[in-house]
Amino acid sequence: MPNVIVVGLQWGDEGKGKIVDVLSEKADVVARFQGGHNAGHTVVINNEKFILHLIPSGILNPNKVCLIGNGVVVDPGALIQEIKGLKERGVAIKNNLFLSKNAHLIMPYHVAVDRENERLRGVKNIGTTGRGIGPAYCDKAGRSGIRVADLLYPEIFREKLDAHLFHVNFLLEHLYKAPRFHTEEIYREYMVYAEALAEYIADTDIIVNSTIAAHGNVLFEGAQGTLLDIDHGTYPYVTSSNAIAGGACTGLGVGPTKISKVLGVVKAYTTRVGSGPFPTEIHDSLGEHLRERGGEYGATTGRARRCGWLDIVVLRHSVRINGVTGLAITKLDILDGLDSIKICSSYTHKGSLYNEFPKETQIFEGCEPVYEEVEGWKADTSGIRDFKKLPEAAQSYIKKIETMLGVDVHLISTGQRRDELILLKEQFNGS
Ligand code: GDP
Ligand code: IMO
Ligand code: MG
Repeated sequence: MPNVIVVGLQWGDEGKGKIVDVLSEKADVVARFQGGHNAGHTVVINNEKFILHLIPSGILNPNKVCLIGNGVVVDPGALIQEIKGLKERGVAIKNNLFLSKNAHLIMPYHVAVDRENERLRGVKNIGTTGRGIGPAYCDKAGRSGIRVADLLYPEIFREKLDAHLFHVNFLLEHLYKAPRFHTEEIYREYMVYAEALAEYIADTDIIVNSTIAAHGNVLFEGAQGTLLDIDHGTYPYVTSSNAIAGGACTGLGVGPTKISKVLGVVKAYTTRVGSGPFPTEIHDSLGEHLRERGGEYGATTGRARRCGWLDIVVLRHSVRINGVTGLAITKLDILDGLDSIKICSSYTHKGSLYNEFPKETQIFEGCEPVYEEVEGWKADTSGIRDFKKLPEAAQSYIKKIETMLGVDVHLISTGQRRDELILLKEQFNGS
């Protein structure tokens, strides 16, 4: 049976949560592989809105096994709150959620260091979500992180914490001039978390691989987006994990030979939250219009998202490095009513033409978009479920994206709700 990765092809918030929720119906296991509670994935079911941060969006479908893989960084307090919030709203969470023993923990000092680093960067700040994501991945790579499994061994947990706090406190005190942390306080707080989370802690690599071996369907839920990927994004204005499809393999312990499809999620325009270059950003009232009509405010931090036109240069890069096999275009309805729509097909920079995303941040920062202008549509597309019922200009817009990227569109989303969707190709049929 197919195993499908859902990945964002822009700067996050493409509508991955909605797409994962829809595809979950036919999945046995739904798994997150990177990021943390910096993510905010919105799912609307019968006009009821759920925002998932750490828990895979598949949890809203009954009888799906949901995994939080080793590649995720977990703030245990945030996870417990999320579980509690979902249970209070009637979502069943019992024997269907598992947390990797190898996932790294976000500690209170990671949040403090995230905040202090941003302060020191001043005007060049990244605009992080302030959740401690970067510092937690720093400790993971620096081999001084504390993992979920350590919660189950109090003495080992205390020993690692105490040893590492020595370094952290030195930095806090002497570099950042910020308050110190104390082993005992964190220890006590985290041992309470350990008790609450013990039932979820598991060998998620074994669960996912045994599902694959038994020919089950696995859906991998990406967080953030390709341009926020630590290696392939607009560094340093990125998050600290591999948000691309390849991250699913390392972030769960699944071999690349087991992946069948990569569905790339693309918003019909572009948004970005936080700092960093964004060539197609619209600075006038049209940007404001897209933000208001699209409800473009962060699902995690509530920050206004910057809005702009679709950027094919960025998407060409994203399609390539993710090995995308199909596209899901979301929020087509938000473009309703525009006279014309712009699509960026290349950039210019100091007299040179760029058809490919330039890797040098200083070049990308100075790129001017070259636009093709297409006809808009003066009709309401919201809730349309049949491609042929879309206005002709909207059909042409979709076909143009397909042609420019050389990849077929498999899904088109025309509203927030589950049923507001045009399904052109099933993901879980055949391999
Ligand atoms: P994610 O982080 O990729 O899961 O995306 P977010 O949930 O942060 O942001 C996407 C927003 O767009 C959410 O509010 C969704 O409910 C909403 N959304 C998703 N698809 C559509 C669509 O086709 N039309 C409209 N109007 N809203 C959509
Ligand atoms: P989902 O999964 C959009 C952005 C932050 C900031 C940068 C680094 O909902 O698409 P971090 O806190 O990760 O160190 O911040 O990344 N960012 C996101 N932007 N959607 C997200 O997640 C994001 N997660 C992080 O705004 O620019
Ligand atoms: Mg989001």
